Amino acid sequence: MIKHLPVIDVQNISKAFAGKTVVNKLSLQVRRGEIYGFLGPNGSGKTTFLRMLCGLLQPDAGSGVCLGHNLLTEVDQIKHRIGYMAQNFSLYEDLSVRENLDFMARIYAIKSRREVVAQTLERMELIPFAGQLAGTLSGGWKQRLALASCLLHEPELLLLDEPTAGVDPAARRDFWEQIYALTTQGISALISTHYMDEAERCHRVAYLAYGDLLTSGTAAEVIKKSGLITWSASGPGIQDLSERLKQQPGIKQVIPFGNTLHVCGTDGERFAESLRPFIADSSYRWEKIETGLEEVFVSLMSKREGGHSDGDS
Ligand SMILES: Nc1ncnc2c1ncn2[C@@H]1O[C@H](COP(=O)(O)OP(=O)(O)O)[C@@H](O)[C@H]1O
Ligand SMILES: [Mg+2]
Repeated sequence: MIKHLPVIDVQNISKAFAGKTVVNKLSLQVRRGEIYGFLGPNGSGKTTFLRMLCGLLQPDAGSGVCLGHNLLTEVDQIKHRIGYMAQNFSLYEDLSVRENLDFMARIYAIKSRREVVAQTLERMELIPFAGQLAGTLSGGWKQRLALASCLLHEPELLLLDEPTAGVDPAARRDFWEQIYALTTQGISALISTHYMDEAERCHRVAYLAYGDLLTSGTAAEVIKKSGLITWSASGPGIQDLSERLKQQPGIKQVIPFGNTLHVCGTDGERFAESLRPFIADSSYRWEKIETGLEEVFVSLMSKREGGHSDGDS
């Protein structure tokens, strides 16, 4: 029974700093074994929310349960069972890989420290680097060491705050493979990220903008809820094409993707009518494509900035 309870279940969590609300009545559930993606522009409250989940900050209002413990009154029990990787985490560059893990194991007050460090080195395939100074590792291996430090005390839930910011694509792929491997062992993860490809790898995502949860669900649900229809256009002078498209009624947004434009609308007929003359112009190649998360997030942001609300979440 307990197995099916969500690992995170919070309702109307709020936090303000100096009278400014930075997390506004956020409700969110993460299921066991799930990878939950947390997206939104800088300053949206992602870090603040994660810090409340791991007991580093006390919410001003709301209630919630994390791993079966009350978020407001049982912070100590929660702390022992989560692995938190802070944004811009730092390793001790002048300590070796093994010494870094050993140091963290001391902080977690792990009893059989030697053994746990050895097991973790093996689990994360860090043995060949055990004696190397952390500062001399490549970005990807530093990342892996940071993840390893979060795993020493066998947490059931990982809270990872932009763990792959600034990491190269190959290392990011490698990192995600490790996250998947961990979830097959029953570990759940809430991960904040700015990368759309990572958002698409999550079982479910939430999009936060300046404290408000604008949408959440599986990628397919979030896309469906948006009601957006997307066409891609390519050809010469797409910059100019983009400007002209933006002036048409029914065209909600035009986003450049390299040499193509993603053109979105919702209202089927009006959108189709506005597009028709452009599609008829044979100098461009048009194709109807599936709407992606990026299109949805851009649209939610512009709606928000325009002061509208569609009651999406
Ligand atoms: N300890 C703090 N004191 C005052 N303001 C803070 C503090 N922590 C965060 N903030 C503010 O709260 C807002 C949300 O920040 P943050 O949670 O870091 O967002 P994100 O992680 O989405 O970029 C920002 O405006 C930030 O300046
Ligand atoms: Mg942050």
